[in-house]
Amino acid sequence: METLPPPAAFDLDAWVARSGALDLDTIPWAEVPDHPLPASAVRTLRYMQDIESHTIIYLRALLATRAIDDPEVATFLACWLHEETFHGMALARFLEAAGHPVAPRPQGRSREPLVKRIESAATAWLSRAWPDFCAVHMVWGAINELTTLTGYRRLIAVAGHPVLSELLRRINVDESRHFFFYYRQAEIRLRRPRVARVARVLVDRFWAPVGSGVQPDTEREFLGRYLFGGPDGRAAARKVDDTIRRLPGFASVKLLEAWMEPQGKSIKGERHEHRDD
Ligand SMILES: [Fe+2]
Ligand SMILES: [Fe+2]
Repeated sequence: METLPPPAAFDLDAWVARSGALDLDTIPWAEVPDHPLPASAVRTLRYMQDIESHTIIYLRALLATRAIDDPEVATFLACWLHEETFHGMALARFLEAAGHPVAPRPQGRSREPLVKRIESAATAWLSRAWPDFCAVHMVWGAINELTTLTGYRRLIAVAGHPVLSELLRRINVDESRHFFFYYRQAEIRLRRPRVARVARVLVDRFWAPVGSGVQPDTEREFLGRYLFGGPDGRAAARKVDDTIRRLPGFASVKLLEAWMEPQGKSIKGERHEHRDD
């Protein structure tokens, strides 16, 4: 039997008190067309708008797992969906203001590809078979929220659009809180070495960057090059990996930087549209 000192409690009430819909009223939408927006930024925003709006589908898979048996996680998921939905709406509004309205999806979100349905069934099975399923869910969430948060910071730097920067800074207040929840929960749950070992195996085997299987691989790879290519992008990706490596049992995990490796090779000679200013 593992004996550990009791983990520090998570203050859910304080977390929930700060949850809410993004305030968009004070964004200067009319000024959006006054500033140039690089084509690569438009492509990135389309991807992210779709992923933010896809949260309800991620939630559908999670509702079939033990996540909803844990009162803290269930409460978090309700707030999370609410906030991510507003992120999707905010990015759609920005794209429209910039003259690039979001086209309707060719296929409804309820009609997921077979591979995603198999993934959801496997997740539900894992949750039934493994009582500590929430541990891997929390690590997974921490990686994806930190990637999103870092990606938006990079987009602020490379796109150089002042209204977009303001919008993304506001969205990132939420993304930071999402990351904090997942990361803190992961820290608590991974304190048991056996749980950490299983979670690590699952992340090593199955983790892929946010949006995998939802958007085409070509778009995901483009995003990787645009946001995490070049010295500043690489440094940002390394920081994501280093933060996750501080979780118990994850000291040597390979994530964003390793994923970027084949991309790095394939983009040699390509022109970058980076404006790190
Ligand atoms: Fe979001
Ligand atoms: Fe988020």
